[in-house]
Amino acid sequence: MKALILSGGKGTRLRPLTYTGAKQLVPVANKPILWYGIERIVATGIQDIGIVISPETGDEVKAKTGNGDRFKANITYIVQDRPAGLAHAVKVAQPFLGDSPFLMYLGDNLIQDDLNQFLEQFTQQQLDSLILLRQVSNPGAFGVAKVADDGRLLYLVEKPQVPPSNLALVGVYFFSPTIHDAIAELQPSARGELEITDAIQSLIEQQKKVSACQLEGWWLDTGKKDDLLEANRIILDSYLTPEVLGEVDAHSQVIGRVEIGAGSQVINCTIRGPVAIGQNCYLENCFVGPYSSIGDRVTLIDTDIDHSVILQGAKVVGIHQRIVDSVIGQRAEVTVAPRRPKALRFLVGDDCQIELM
Ligand code: G1P
Repeated sequence: MKALILSGGKGTRLRPLTYTGAKQLVPVANKPILWYGIERIVATGIQDIGIVISPETGDEVKAKTGNGDRFKANITYIVQDRPAGLAHAVKVAQPFLGDSPFLMYLGDNLIQDDLNQFLEQFTQQQLDSLILLRQVSNPGAFGVAKVADDGRLLYLVEKPQVPPSNLALVGVYFFSPTIHDAIAELQPSARGELEITDAIQSLIEQQKKVSACQLEGWWLDTGKKDDLLEANRIILDSYLTPEVLGEVDAHSQVIGRVEIGAGSQVINCTIRGPVAIGQNCYLENCFVGPYSSIGDRVTLIDTDIDHSVILQGAKVVGIHQRIVDSVIGQRAEVTVAPRRPKALRFLVGDDCQIELM
């Protein structure tokens, strides 16, 4: 059994963060989204992992994630020259996959459920494909499954205008090598891509053994800002272990589950967990409220922040009106002059959003 993680794509829905980087490397609780997927896969015992990357962001994914030693896995990188669809990515990865069955995982998905139970079902029942489904309120944004009352999978359709159910396809799939034949026959969809949903639908039509399982736990597709904040909240809630490696002075209060990385300094601050603070940060006269993740080398001075994600190297100074539900990108600077500002001065990149409320 091998695994294939798809980590290409343009990440248009997470702009501007994804102009300069891969969406799968955007951190959740200070760890790239992609790494949660790798850890879930390694926990099933699969060690041979292929990661499909794009020419634009592939080098960054490679440099950050490495050859797999960190995860006790062997990682092979496979370049997909253009974003021509999930099934196209499988086609490109065929030399890596050979005739092995494989688990395919979309690198921007996070799921709570353990994958072992699904792998077991796939293997024991000798399925051609096992897909995972979850109820959602906006099925039209996903692949959608129609399931019979007895649980049998009837058909699948990609991003339908009139969804036949509220069961979305989660970005985790199990395949036998028969999927390659189905992909070879595919025609591009209306959005010009080779859809994996269409390939699975063709397995169903050929009466191959395709089953579906419904997820019990949460599923997050971190494509947009609010999804990212929600993922951050859930991961901090579920997994954060308190650990203070940096320095916290006597005037500061650290309450609840808080992680502070090595080399970070916290001076005269109140930090109320769950909060993750990275390495080599500088925080002075701040309130950092629950569900905040502060990346490495961030400077926060005279600032109150809550339920927000600040990426590495950013600097926020002089904002005591509380910053909430915000994502601040790498190396961004937001500063307010010490006396009440008389003017606002901006250098704001494309697709940024600023709301003064
Ligand atoms: C892709 C799949 C879709 C699936 C979704 C899960 O959509 O095409 O069937 O439900 O991933 O994240 P995309 O992210 O390409 O819009």
